[in-house]
Amino acid sequence: MRDVLETLNNPPYDVQKIREDFDFLKVGESPTIYLDNGATTQRPRQVLERVSEYYKSENANPLRGTYHLAAASTEAYEQARKRVAKFINARTKQEIIFTRNASEALNLVAYSYGFEHLEEGDEVLITRMEHHSNSVPWQFVCQKTGAKLVYAELDGDFQLDMDDFASKLSEKTKIVSFTGTSNVLSSEPDVKKISEMAHSVGAIAICDGAQMVPHHKVDVQDLGCDFLALSGHKMYAPFGIGVLYGKRDILQHMQPFMYGGEMIEYVQDFSASYAPLPYKFEAGTQNVGGAVGLHAAIDYVEAIGFDKISAYEQALGEYCAIKLRELGTCNVFHPTKGPRGAAVAFNVCGVHPHDVASILDYKHVAIRAGHHCAQQLHRGLDIESSCRASFGIYNTKEEIDAFIDGINFVRETMGLTK
Ligand code: ALA
Repeated sequence: MRDVLETLNNPPYDVQKIREDFDFLKVGESPTIYLDNGATTQRPRQVLERVSEYYKSENANPLRGTYHLAAASTEAYEQARKRVAKFINARTKQEIIFTRNASEALNLVAYSYGFEHLEEGDEVLITRMEHHSNSVPWQFVCQKTGAKLVYAELDGDFQLDMDDFASKLSEKTKIVSFTGTSNVLSSEPDVKKISEMAHSVGAIAICDGAQMVPHHKVDVQDLGCDFLALSGHKMYAPFGIGVLYGKRDILQHMQPFMYGGEMIEYVQDFSASYAPLPYKFEAGTQNVGGAVGLHAAIDYVEAIGFDKISAYEQALGEYCAIKLRELGTCNVFHPTKGPRGAAVAFNVCGVHPHDVASILDYKHVAIRAGHHCAQQLHRGLDIESSCRASFGIYNTKEEIDAFIDGINFVRETMGLTK
């Protein structure tokens, strides 16, 4: 606890200055204590202004027009792609495909790779803690191809059980698809090790980075995964923009996911040839405003520095988990050791999670309650649902203290003694 307090009392970056960039923190007499960053983050003024500027002075349909405004839009879009490639250290910007979100990115791989490579007798290995966006597409592909979906289970401390994972990996495994950070437990599996293990049996490794990329420096070449999915809206960018990173050699041999405008080379009456990477996977008019906003959001977080962000946010998560455990009235679903991040799941004894979240709202504290799109995980924990407090770059120790007071208020409101 001493290290945690030291980090929170002397943050590695100027948190108060960061807070000034977020206008939502100034709205109302008692601004919301926003602890639902796992669902979506707020956006700093720098991102909002850049998007607005794009729509004011650069807006045109990119990749199509020859007039100067269309060229400006294309330039903004391609600069964003280049920025994402640099951000995650992709080898080339051809490996960066813009999508709506991480779900669409994972669906793209499931449809375009899964359907082509899976058959009866094959296995897809996922983990117990996947978000539905990384389990339901594989359920569907397995149902259609006859492949088997296999779950690696968790250990007693809410981390991936690597022995169980190893025991379920075999020559039959063709795809290993796993989260880089659980959206509920915030456990952080070893992406590099899992990717190496997947490759050792000839499988590909797909990492759902939606909850990892906003909190850690990610280097896809070092991690070695074949695909990585991310969502802009969880990292201070607008809604509706996500990314699929894929190794070029694999992407090149995949069929398109969606068909239509701009993803073609030549269209005959009954067939078509497709555009080169990455355009083969980007059918229809693209969300350039979103891509430009993502570019600005990456600039914003990198200016703070991921070493600092990771250290600070991990301290927020740890402080919250410790304070919740100290109350003695909550079940806390958060690892006590091993890599873990900035989200804490819990239940208040005797109170339904939806009541907890609704009563906390009276105290202007916003958390998420429900199954968090992870029903298989909740079944594994033998609970229906849970509450989740999840943190971002602007949260503070004082906000967590107010949230903890709020939990006591919840109990009192429900007529429960401490
Ligand atoms: N995937 C988002 C969450 O975990 C919506 O809350």
